[in-house]
Amino acid sequence: MLKQFEEKKFNIPKLKGISAKTTEEHLKLYSGYVKNTNVILAKIDEYSEDAEPIVGSGDEHTYALGEIRRRFSFEFDGMRNHEYYFAHFESGPTALTAKNILRKAIEKEWGNFDKWLARFKSIALTRGIGWAMLYYDSHTERLLNAWVDEQHLGHLTGLAPILALDMWEHSYVADYKPSGKKDYIEDFFVNLNWQNVEKHIKEYSL
Ligand SMILES: [Fe+2]
Repeated sequence: MLKQFEEKKFNIPKLKGISAKTTEEHLKLYSGYVKNTNVILAKIDEYSEDAEPIVGSGDEHTYALGEIRRRFSFEFDGMRNHEYYFAHFESGPTALTAKNILRKAIEKEWGNFDKWLARFKSIALTRGIGWAMLYYDSHTERLLNAWVDEQHLGHLTGLAPILALDMWEHSYVADYKPSGKKDYIEDFFVNLNWQNVEKHIKEYSL
């Protein structure tokens, strides 16, 4: 029996701007990513048993394997990105205190917190669907911002996600309209539990 990725449950309070209906629908999408991750791994296992190893052989399972392998990172990262995103809201917003380790690390990297925040919000406004991400690079002890297209294109190898902001339209259009992207980003930060975000960097000795 193959190991299965389990769907996580999140304790999400009432949010400013983001409706319970949006969260409910969004969690269904998350559930789909978990299911599809498991389905792909099962299919890879099944097809690998009998697929011809020669690409272009016309073998049905060889062709299918190539396609689902290509799709795996989309489903897996879709699952994992959402686990970061929903956990950011758990237990309600907390202030980002001057003592917060992440705040100190951001100040060290960008000079001041507001400069980083403006940069991050600007990245979130990138046209298209994807994610604004803040990463920690333990190789160089640096923080880096990045835009990730879809769920998987543009992730930085070997870096740990710290903050993940979903900029797919399903995250905000029902509550904010397409033109309300900026307001959604503002409310994301109002709703953020900075202590939860800080946990992702606490394991590193900064
Ligand atoms: Fe999403």
